Amino acid sequence: MPAALKEAPSNLLAPDRQHHLGAFRRVRAETERRAAPLSAEDQAVQSMPDASPAKWHRAHTTWFFETFLVQPNVPNYRVYDERFAFLFNSYYVAAGPRHARPKRGLITRPNAAEVADYRAHVDAAVETLIAEAGANAWPEIARILEVGLNHEEQHQELMLTDILHAFAQNPTHPAYDANWQPPKSNPGEGYVELPEGIHTLGHQGEGYCFDNEGPSHRVLVGPVKLARSLVTNAEWLAFINDGGYANPMLWLSDGWAAVQTEGWQAPGYWQERDGGWHQLTLAGLRQLDPSAPVTHISYYEADAFARWAGKHLPTEQEWEVAARAGHLDDAFGIVWQWTRSSYSPYPGFVACDGALGEYNGKFMVNQLVLRGSSLATPAGHSRVTYRNFFYPPARWQFSGLRLADYAERYSLS
Ligand SMILES: [Fe+2]
Repeated sequence: MPAALKEAPSNLLAPDRQHHLGAFRRVRAETERRAAPLSAEDQAVQSMPDASPAKWHRAHTTWFFETFLVQPNVPNYRVYDERFAFLFNSYYVAAGPRHARPKRGLITRPNAAEVADYRAHVDAAVETLIAEAGANAWPEIARILEVGLNHEEQHQELMLTDILHAFAQNPTHPAYDANWQPPKSNPGEGYVELPEGIHTLGHQGEGYCFDNEGPSHRVLVGPVKLARSLVTNAEWLAFINDGGYANPMLWLSDGWAAVQTEGWQAPGYWQERDGGWHQLTLAGLRQLDPSAPVTHISYYEADAFARWAGKHLPTEQEWEVAARAGHLDDAFGIVWQWTRSSYSPYPGFVACDGALGEYNGKFMVNQLVLRGSSLATPAGHSRVTYRNFFYPPARWQFSGLRLADYAERYSLS
């Protein structure tokens, strides 16, 4: 514990600072909790350029606080190791040069224990800053602190998806946690109808949001029907058994090319063995549960499935209208849901100045939006306006889909 907090116990801090100190400690501890089942060897591996080693996630989130919160606000701060900025900067051009992303798995040093020391060093500096920052500086410090916490929560999710991808390369099917259980889904029946209407979407009012969730704006939505439930493994098996992966007429051109190149015949981590389908989960290889929502599918697969089903993917606006009204079952906490919306700026979006302006804005091209949250998303991280985004071939996230139906719209026209 830093000296400042020994002298001024956290319960003597102003409620606002106490709140932030508690949030900081909770988030930092959750990262370590998620890393705890991983050996030093597990933490060093990088199974593909998109996935990062767990040790890198632990260090990068620490670099984020050190670079954007501590260094600008603590004049005499001693940087833990000058070399770490090169190793653990992800994509912030304004923050300086960085190690090549696909080569993160080659960094065996600092080792996992040294990364723990790095985390402790920066934790102490942040806690002292929360306790001692001047009143004038505090609002901006609190703002950056919140960005850092939400950023670290995003990496907590990636720690699980990335290690699952690494374990999928291992023929012995390692378990991250042998006792892990999938979340219970609670599927409803049928479709909910969204009549044509103008809705105000995007984040408004109090509470944290990422910059890409605003500005709020008005949008014409509907008429459309949205499935109350997520598409299940049983439904996906019907698609497979109907030759879905072998019929080019169902696929976007880029999607069909990916099917050929990647040899896709089923969702990610599915294996047919011993006369039945299995799936690598966080608990190791498990028999496929037909009633569970399908997961680890790319945008291309979601799009092909929807075409096969005679349906469509919803737009992100349709998803948000239905979710705000409470019409969507399993909207959060199971799988991110692909929408057919391009990840583009909302009308009037302007990224903030400086390196943190690179957080979201510069990725607003060539990706698709996913809504909701997944079983790997930390509790309380997502919300109804949250916009996740990935490239269309990506399927190492817990990504699934729900369907949209426009049949009546077109029968009317
Ligand atoms: Fe990051």
